[in-house]
Amino acid sequence: MTKILIIGSEGQLGSCFHEQATTLSDAQFFFSTVDTLNLMDSSAIHSFFEGKHFDFIINCAAYTAVDKAETDTVNAYRLNAEAPGELSRKAAQMNARFIHISTDYVFGGNHSRPLKPEDSKMPDSIYGKSKLQGEINVVQEDPDSMVIRTSWLYSQYGKNFLKTMIQLGQQKDLLKVVFDQTGSPTLADDLASVILTIIRKVITGEKPFVPGIYHFSNEGVCSWYDFATAIFYETKISCKVQPVESDQFPTPAPRPAYSVMDKSKIKETYGLEINHWQESLRKCLKNMEQ
Ligand SMILES: NC(=O)c1ccc[n+]([C@@H]2O[C@H](COP(=O)([O-])OP(=O)(O)OC[C@H]3O[C@@H](n4cnc5c(N)ncnc54)[C@H](OP(=O)(O)O)[C@@H]3O)[C@@H](O)[C@H]2O)c1
Repeated sequence: MTKILIIGSEGQLGSCFHEQATTLSDAQFFFSTVDTLNLMDSSAIHSFFEGKHFDFIINCAAYTAVDKAETDTVNAYRLNAEAPGELSRKAAQMNARFIHISTDYVFGGNHSRPLKPEDSKMPDSIYGKSKLQGEINVVQEDPDSMVIRTSWLYSQYGKNFLKTMIQLGQQKDLLKVVFDQTGSPTLADDLASVILTIIRKVITGEKPFVPGIYHFSNEGVCSWYDFATAIFYETKISCKVQPVESDQFPTPAPRPAYSVMDKSKIKETYGLEINHWQESLRKCLKNMEQ
């Protein structure tokens, strides 16, 4: 029986693993939360793993409050950089496969074509810098680990752009949404499903576990304005959307203007097909109705 530990199991992505755990046969899932494994505390990490063995460890936990991170630097680095390094060291010691989730924010800068994993990184926020340091620490402690960067994550769980738009759209007649930031939304269910597919292929011997840095988002490209417009179209919310430039919404942490990621590596290595973001949006809305 393959033992899989999901860390940060009550966040958006972690909740999707909860939901999909039964889709993987011959696997036993373990779910940790901040109460059972507090990543702020190195000694808690050490004692959590004492006497335990896992075959796969998936780290979904992170400091995701992007703006708050600008002033809460120490905690952001602890959770996004130091703790992932400590987890990957534990994984290496027990010969477990470590899968860590990272972000498009590691790139920053002024890119204008889909980003490949090895492209230059110039994160312009503490969140992006701390997540980049996390990737470095993970790979340094366990060169056999896998890092998957994702972008614009949303789901039926937690707080995200989709849920905020639905809530605001029901209250207002007009919303201003930025149209000069381009990226690709990612349905957290799709990311969880892809990770479980990779694990299934590795367990059955269909594909080897290939360490390294990968990109995953849904297919297609849009601005936040396009995403909001699609949300209101699909939900039949009558709120109008006005495209505006980012300087109308100054935030403590700068947002990347262009963070479309090239997903060729994950698709080719694991023989995957990825849904278009509009199709996944419809899937998510359907799940939310149930
Ligand atoms: N959200 C996005 O748009 C986005 C975009 C790109 C990449 N990502 C990355 O994708 C991954 C998953 O993101 P998400 O949106 O699912 O995150 P999320 O919903 O914010 O969940 C983060 C999880 O981390 C847990 N956590 C916080 N502090 C902790 C601690 N001290 N010890 C242990 N666990 C702790 C949280 O637990 P509590 O709920 O109990 O605090 C929560 O379960 C993260 O690595 C994130 O950086 C996210």
